Amino acid sequence: MPPLNSTSPLTAETRHAVSIVLNGTPRTGHAHPRLLLSDFLRHELGAHGTRVGCEHGVCGACTVRIDGVAARACLMLAVQADGRRIDTVEGLAQANEGRMTALQEAFRRHHALQCGFCTAGILMSLTDYLGRNPKPTEEELRDMLSGHLCRCTGYAGIVRAVMDVTGRTMKEAAHV
Ligand code: FES
Ligand code: FES
Repeated sequence: MPPLNSTSPLTAETRHAVSIVLNGTPRTGHAHPRLLLSDFLRHELGAHGTRVGCEHGVCGACTVRIDGVAARACLMLAVQADGRRIDTVEGLAQANEGRMTALQEAFRRHHALQCGFCTAGILMSLTDYLGRNPKPTEEELRDMLSGHLCRCTGYAGIVRAVMDVTGRTMKEAAHV
């Protein structure tokens, strides 16, 4: 195992200390300069809720919030996250007294997931997006969801869940 070194310049062979605030808790791990933030979260800090699919920014499965803004964790190096606040899907219930959020409950109610591989990333994007646009139209919502690949649901249940939570009327939502 290469040595840990938090003070020397970044070198490919050296693991460096990376300190973040993960879901409200200060955490420190160590990472080689090439390690992706997504792998750092999963393998160094044990935050396995963040999924890794394509590893090149296309599928959206790895989406987390970085200083409140949804971003692909596979497109950022762990060392670049030093000092940042990172929120992952685990933090949603943690911030809600241990209970699933209204959005998560709506996902369950509307069958908005099957295998669930895409779900964490979609939830993290939605928590950012709905904070900025709390009453999206269906068209706006579908446009936002186009940044996430879901191979199971056809997106209908996801759209119904969000429309339910945001109080918008939607033809399909009335039938569930
Ligand atoms: S794993 Fe990051 S976008 Fe697909
Ligand atoms: S629920 Fe399987 S990929 Fe979305």
